[in-house]
Amino acid sequence: MLKQEAGDGQRSLADPEFRADVLTGLSASPRAIPARWFYDRRGSELFEDITGLPEYYPTRTEVALLKSACGEVGRIVGEGRAVIEFGSGSSMKTPVLLESVQPSGYVPIDISGEFLRMSAAQIAGRFPGIPVHPVEANFMKPVPLPKAVAEAPKLGFFPGSTIGNMTPAAATDLLRAMRQSLGQGAMLLIGIDRVKDEGVLVPAYDDAAGVTAAFNLNLLERINRELDGTIDVAGFRHVARWNDDASRIEMHLEAVRDQRFDVDGRPFSIAAGETIHTENSHKYGPRGARVLLRTGGWTPVAEWTDEREWFSLILAEAQPTPMAP
Ligand code: AVJ
Repeated sequence: MLKQEAGDGQRSLADPEFRADVLTGLSASPRAIPARWFYDRRGSELFEDITGLPEYYPTRTEVALLKSACGEVGRIVGEGRAVIEFGSGSSMKTPVLLESVQPSGYVPIDISGEFLRMSAAQIAGRFPGIPVHPVEANFMKPVPLPKAVAEAPKLGFFPGSTIGNMTPAAATDLLRAMRQSLGQGAMLLIGIDRVKDEGVLVPAYDDAAGVTAAFNLNLLERINRELDGTIDVAGFRHVARWNDDASRIEMHLEAVRDQRFDVDGRPFSIAAGETIHTENSHKYGPRGARVLLRTGGWTPVAEWTDEREWFSLILAEAQPTPMAP
């Protein structure tokens, strides 16, 4: 009875898109739930923890790259652009960029109003001279920008290899939407994770301390909390595998035994060994990354990589589409 009440109380708070994605994803074959639902409060905390793990190289590699490249970035893009960040500003990366490009404005775009307000306030506090214009929107579609930055030349910022969460087809759609949002002549600074040894990639997504496992399993806990789920989380285990054909790390939740559970009052069953696919993290070679950008309407103009060539930062420009022979 108590459980029922708690469930109902939370159910009314659940995001209808979360409910729809989970119900559809659990019924699909193969089962899959979009990775963006990892990031409730707990999931965001766990992701923060992941970024500090010894095995998880992307964040520290990208931050170091950004620090070493920002002077050159500043010289190429010039001062006074409006910086448009896709996703909540991360406290580690955004300030480094803002310092070096002296922007005329900063526009963080995020689907989560809560994260957006937090990061906008942080940046406004740290850079009192830069007007901040947060936009709550899904950046997978073209986003109308605030009037205040309409006339300024633009610099898009999309760090974190977040583009790797998308299939190449979806990544292309996103790059085109960004080009439409920012307009011709805009520039884009994007972080893209590189293909590398499987022995480095798999541990980065299956760390010894089990933080990534907790991050993945938290999705089931979130379903229980917000969608009145009855999933026995101990009946699932975290799996990270390299899919060489698709050039990506995949994360799955694998059922360790046959089980039944309810979500939002609907019954589901899963057999031992079956999985729920929860994330893709695509990795690109240098040419693959540049072709992806070009396919999305962005011409690479400069590129930086670390000594081991594990991560790349690419600066690209929305040039007029040339005549093709
Ligand atoms: C935030 C999408 C870049 O794919 O590396 C980290 C998310 N998932 N560990 C990534 C993630 C598991 C991360 N991105």
